[in-house]
Amino acid sequence: MKNKVNLKYIIFLIISLLMIYGIWYFNNSIKTSEYINPEIVATHYNGANFVASETCLECHADIYSSHLKTAHFNTSSTAEKSHIKASFNEGTNELNLKGVKLKMLEENDEYFQVSQPKFGDVSTTKSKIDIVVGSGVKGQSYLSWQDEHLIQLQASYFQPTGSWVNSPNFPDYSLTRKVDDNCLKCHVTFAKNESESGIGNSYDRSKMILGIDCQRCHGPSEKHVKYHRENPETVIGEFIDSYESYTRQQRLDACAVCHSGLQGQQIKGNPFSFLAGDTLSLYSKNYKNVNSKIKLDVHGNQMGLLSESECFVNSPKMDCLTCHDPHKNQRADTNIFNSKCLTCHESNKVNSVAKSHIHDNQQNCVSCHMPLVPSEVMKLKLENDFEEIPVYIRTHLIGVYN
Ligand code: HEC
Ligand code: HEC
Ligand code: HEC
Ligand code: HEC
Ligand code: HEC
Ligand code: HEC
Ligand code: HEC
Repeated sequence: MKNKVNLKYIIFLIISLLMIYGIWYFNNSIKTSEYINPEIVATHYNGANFVASETCLECHADIYSSHLKTAHFNTSSTAEKSHIKASFNEGTNELNLKGVKLKMLEENDEYFQVSQPKFGDVSTTKSKIDIVVGSGVKGQSYLSWQDEHLIQLQASYFQPTGSWVNSPNFPDYSLTRKVDDNCLKCHVTFAKNESESGIGNSYDRSKMILGIDCQRCHGPSEKHVKYHRENPETVIGEFIDSYESYTRQQRLDACAVCHSGLQGQQIKGNPFSFLAGDTLSLYSKNYKNVNSKIKLDVHGNQMGLLSESECFVNSPKMDCLTCHDPHKNQRADTNIFNSKCLTCHESNKVNSVAKSHIHDNQQNCVSCHMPLVPSEVMKLKLENDFEEIPVYIRTHLIGVYN
């Protein structure tokens, strides 16, 4: 009798324990698969998935945190106080152009442009600033959603004068401009256009990845993240390209896609189709159609100018990464840049002529050999000014200047 009771009790205990284990196991495997499978924020035209930028923090903490300070990461963002550099204070929030008056307002942490034409229909239009383009090194432009259509507003911010200006290439009467992929492609990581050609300005607003992020230069990385979460012991990066395996042209192209100025003409896919490791000339042509050195503009055409420089022509391995660390904000760090020049110019291997040129580590090589040059294409009109003033950009045509 006593044995029977004991047996029942033991069976009951075993079943209970099994059930508790079952529930624990089930719960945990949900947690594990939630951990293994990162949240997908957008899908590239080639079918590969983008994950949220923060996902990379987990395993690449150093690169991630230094990257947050770069002009690339900050080149586009939602319109928050911390990102908008321009002033909305009374007295400095107006722009008076020949044919239109613009006033910029801040209301409950939201930002607006109120535009009033001076001739014809003089009714006002109030547009919300939704997206900021430009880290603010030279300036910022502001974009606005009209339903799912994206437009650029007339007023921009110009850092050297700290004031509102007419957006580059806008006339001095009232205008907004459609923002298609050919504007966005250099300032965001990804945008999902309704038309795959990228010509229109209708977007899936929930699938826009602002800022130039890790995955703009390394490609959509869902598979990489999944693999390394499942295999934490692996020390070699899987499902991700190494730049070290690229040819010089591939390494250059990964930067040239955005740093060759505006003359590239799309011949394949969508403006976002090109990914690092691809060959740019298969996606766009005409990068070299403006061959004259004078016509290569400093605005955005670092590739064109550098490739005309004696340093580049005579150094089979030189590329953008010879001088730039893509994960760091190196702006104005003259010591770093000068030391890069001296890696080639101090040794006798290269450039024997330089020995006659008196220079030392204290000199700022860049100030004389890569001076700031006024842009021919990026010019701005200030209020009441007749002349447009150019933006000064550091030339990559390395040479001897007066
Ligand atoms: C679960 C861990 C993990 C996560 C999350 C992760 N990575 Fe990695 N990644 C690795 C490991 C491990 C390596 C190989 C060691 C190394 O190079 O640091 C690596 C290497 C890389 C490399 C270098 C490849 C090479 O061979 O040069 C790149 C680029 C890279 N990861 C990008 C990313 C990006 C972008 C993200 C976010 C979308 C990301 N990783 C998220 C673990 C991870
Ligand atoms: C082909 C690539 C490319 C395209 C297309 C492009 N930009 Fe740029 N933009 C750049 C680069 C590169 C810079 C950095 C400065 C330079 O080299 O002139 C820049 C700088 C800027 C800046 C100043 C940023 C700062 O903080 O100094 C603003 C604002 C800007 N662009 C707005 C726009 C807008 C608006 C459009 C679309 C109408 C556009 N850009 C299209 C590549 C591009
Ligand atoms: C502007 C383009 C660009 C962006 C943005 C970028 N990278 Fe890179 N990354 C590169 C290039 C180029 C290299 C190769 C550097 C070299 O060979 O000197 C590289 C190399 C790497 C490597 C391997 C070598 C190393 O330095 O450890 C890892 C890992 C990596 N990147 C992760 C990331 C992560 C994570 C982010 C975002 C937080 C990111 N990258 C953002 C261009 C970029
Ligand atoms: C998706 C387009 C894109 C790609 C790819 C890209 N850049 Fe840029 N880059 C930009 C834009 C846009 C700016 C201007 C950012 C701003 O100030 O708003 C910029 C700015 C810069 C700057 C100035 C940074 C500063 O502090 O002002 C450097 C240097 C630079 N890029 C180098 C590179 C190198 C090297 C690569 C390749 C590894 C690269 N870029 C790839 C678009 C791109
Ligand atoms: C020989 C060294 C060297 C090489 C190679 C080089 N750069 Fe630069 N780059 C510099 C220096 C120096 C500056 C000025 C930095 C500063 O003012 O803080 C600069 C500035 C820039 C800027 C900001 C320009 C401005 O005035 O806002 C961009 C963008 C840029 N580089 C992109 C590139 C790209 C893309 C490549 C490859 C095609 C490249 N660079 C190759 C040395 C170099
Ligand atoms: C990868 C090596 C390398 C780097 C880095 C480099 N150069 Fe050069 N540079 C060369 C070579 C090679 C020549 C061609 C002259 C020769 O072969 O003697 C040259 C030529 C020059 C010339 C003469 C240009 C002309 O038109 O006659 C100047 C000036 C110059 N470099 C300045 C610089 C400055 C400034 C930097 C840093 C911003 C720099 N270089 C970085 C390799 C380099
Ligand atoms: C004050 C301006 C100035 C500074 C700073 C400067 N240079 Fe020069 N550099 C010149 C001039 C002018 C020439 C041409 C006349 C000559 O050869 O003396 C020249 C010529 C050169 C040449 C080419 C020589 C030739 O005739 O082809 C090289 C290479 C060069 N400099 C490298 C550098 C490097 C590297 C630094 C930084 C350590 C530097 N320079 C700093 C003004 C400067």
